[in-house]
Amino acid sequence: MAKVMIGVAWPYANGTIHLGHMAGSLLPPDIFSRYNRLLGNEVLMVGGSDQHGTPITVTAEKEGITPEEVADRYHLINKKSIEDMGIEYSLYTKTHTQNHFEVVQDVFRRLLDNGYLVTKESNQYYCPKCARFLPDRYVEGICPECGAEKVRGDQCDSCGKTFEPGDLKESYCIHCGTHPEIRETEHFFLRLSAFNDRLLDYLGDKSWWRPNVRSFTTNWLKDGLHDRAITRDMDWGVPIPLEGWDSKVIYVWFDAVIGYLSASKEYSKIIGKPDYWKEFWTDPEVKHYYFLGKDNIPFHSIIWPSILMGYGGLNLPYDIPANEYLMFKGGKLSKSRGGAIDIPSVLERYDADVMRFYLSMVMPDTHDSEFSWDDFKTKVNTELVANLGNYCHRCLSFTRKNYGSVPDCGDIPEEVTAAIRTAFDDYMGHMASCDFKKAMRAILDLSHAGNRLFDAAKPWALVKTDREACGRELYGNLAVVKALSIMMWPFMPKAAQRIWGYLGLDGTPEDVGYGAVGTAPEKGAELPDPVPVFSKVEIPEPDEEPAPKEEEKMAVADGPFADYRRLDIRAGTITSVEDHPDAEKLYLLKVNVGEERQIVAGLKAYYTKEQMQGRRVLCLCNLKPAKLRGQRSEGMLLAADDEEIGGSTVLLLKPSSDVPDGTRFGSGLDGSSSRIEYKDFQKAVLKVGSFKDGKVNVDGGLEVEGEGIPERVAVAVEDGKAIAVSDGNGCYATVESPITDGAGVR
Ligand code: MF3
Ligand code: ZN
Repeated sequence: MAKVMIGVAWPYANGTIHLGHMAGSLLPPDIFSRYNRLLGNEVLMVGGSDQHGTPITVTAEKEGITPEEVADRYHLINKKSIEDMGIEYSLYTKTHTQNHFEVVQDVFRRLLDNGYLVTKESNQYYCPKCARFLPDRYVEGICPECGAEKVRGDQCDSCGKTFEPGDLKESYCIHCGTHPEIRETEHFFLRLSAFNDRLLDYLGDKSWWRPNVRSFTTNWLKDGLHDRAITRDMDWGVPIPLEGWDSKVIYVWFDAVIGYLSASKEYSKIIGKPDYWKEFWTDPEVKHYYFLGKDNIPFHSIIWPSILMGYGGLNLPYDIPANEYLMFKGGKLSKSRGGAIDIPSVLERYDADVMRFYLSMVMPDTHDSEFSWDDFKTKVNTELVANLGNYCHRCLSFTRKNYGSVPDCGDIPEEVTAAIRTAFDDYMGHMASCDFKKAMRAILDLSHAGNRLFDAAKPWALVKTDREACGRELYGNLAVVKALSIMMWPFMPKAAQRIWGYLGLDGTPEDVGYGAVGTAPEKGAELPDPVPVFSKVEIPEPDEEPAPKEEEKMAVADGPFADYRRLDIRAGTITSVEDHPDAEKLYLLKVNVGEERQIVAGLKAYYTKEQMQGRRVLCLCNLKPAKLRGQRSEGMLLAADDEEIGGSTVLLLKPSSDVPDGTRFGSGLDGSSSRIEYKDFQKAVLKVGSFKDGKVNVDGGLEVEGEGIPERVAVAVEDGKAIAVSDGNGCYATVESPITDGAGVR
């Protein structure tokens, strides 16, 4: 029995993980871990949410909440998605923890003591308008290498080129659009150049690395390594453990890769064996595997090994089976560029194992691969349902019906043993080299072979003429089904487990492992009544799945105010106000909007509990429910906020007259309450201004139509036109006291 350490790239906690993450970096390590467990190996599999860095601060600024709130919200959502997909880590943790801080700071100090960190003045983008240094993601421009547009300040997603400040062409601040200056700032640098030779040695014998990983890495080394800044001018991240460095933090990539070590230590503490991690990290025999997408390669094949070499005494990566991208209709499946297919919505519709099957079939292991719902339907219905699922079911149900238990009529026929052996050898070769797509093929090949054996034996006829011979054929087929169940377990654990049970077997495939492939279930064991494990899928309703969404098209066709019309705004009354149990700044509300909703709101700075209780409000009701610090929020109260235009007032919107709770505001698509995300809400431009003589004073004065419009009114603005937010019946969205004209609604 060997020990194996598996590191899984840490998804950023700034959005919901989607199918791209699953196929690229999350599912493969789970398959590999289960494979190792079936071999009898002891696996330590760690990872978590990458909570620092500018992706999170960018999101926090957009939503007007703290980085920690963003990071914890998505940590919880993603942790649950990962569990729901059946991905089993030893520990899925996060980087904003005391343990992680301590481990990172220890590594930082050790590298400093060992002479691998130096301080240097360097150039950084600086936005004169925002008056601050701009971290990588706050700058975009054109890639000087491949000409791709809208690439970030640090690296081009299209060609993989990494940049120094100033390299980008036509750069601009993503906040205000200003062309940034380059200014000097002092930072710590990792002396990568000191590791050049050792890295070449390290790489020298890694013939088993995938070609893409080798070439990415050798290209980097060929150019000679430059020292890299590992601190940043910002305050969200791991503090630098030295006096006088308060305005800077450790760079997210430096802290995140150290997460593999900190998570291993955290897990050891949790299981009450604080030194357990050493068994994996200091024994040179233990192989370390890292699973990630190709944009993460150099951080794992160069930077992380350098940090480990500089620290000393810890194992380096043994293999880094990085995947290419899963493409959706020609675009990379990436949340930061739109077109996301997030796990919670996918799992509302499909079984996790069915998704795991399809992602394994199209895994982008050697090339970018295509995801399409049509292909999903075809592959699931023909291969998973009609081939694998149907084969298992016909064997199990036929035997159950005619024999009731595992037939005791002789041994497994030789040709059956041979068929299992061939497929299993093929499968094991691919599993060992992390070629999971090919291993999945071997499983399907075996079930094809099984189907042929079953058909050739004609048990439906044979059972009438020679019950003994038929029993023996079925016994052989049950051995095939048992082999399939074990081989499937890394890919579709729940389905494999069900088939296991239908074979009359106890425990799980993991209990017996690959050693049991080729054996049949116990003769005479009673067979339960099987139910087909897989059923055919239909492809999603157009308005619920990937872009372009049908409903968006409709809205566009609807003329102006398309974004506004997607909002389901209703009148409501706050019926209960409590403090959020785990967040100082938040209220936990119950709001009656025709039905009761729980809403988490950050309004403590503006309204007391007494002022909130019983207040009439306007509520956005079709926002996707989210958990905010552990509490479900099923909507959002709309408030006018003039901070962006220089004011300091926040006022809740309210209906201008006494309409019942639940009254719809927004003369939009009738009854359309399809879910939207926060970013969809942001697309709709809602503003509040004073109303006089048929005009509302926003954007220089816009005409609005309506009877009895109050002196302050909220309007939706699009293409220089405005419509009042109203119930269409003389009740308008208003605020009770003055606020700067043009205040935004959030
Ligand atoms: N958060 C990074 C990404 O999503 C991956 C970090 S992997 C780590 O691209 F090892 F550095 F944590
Ligand atoms: Zn700026």
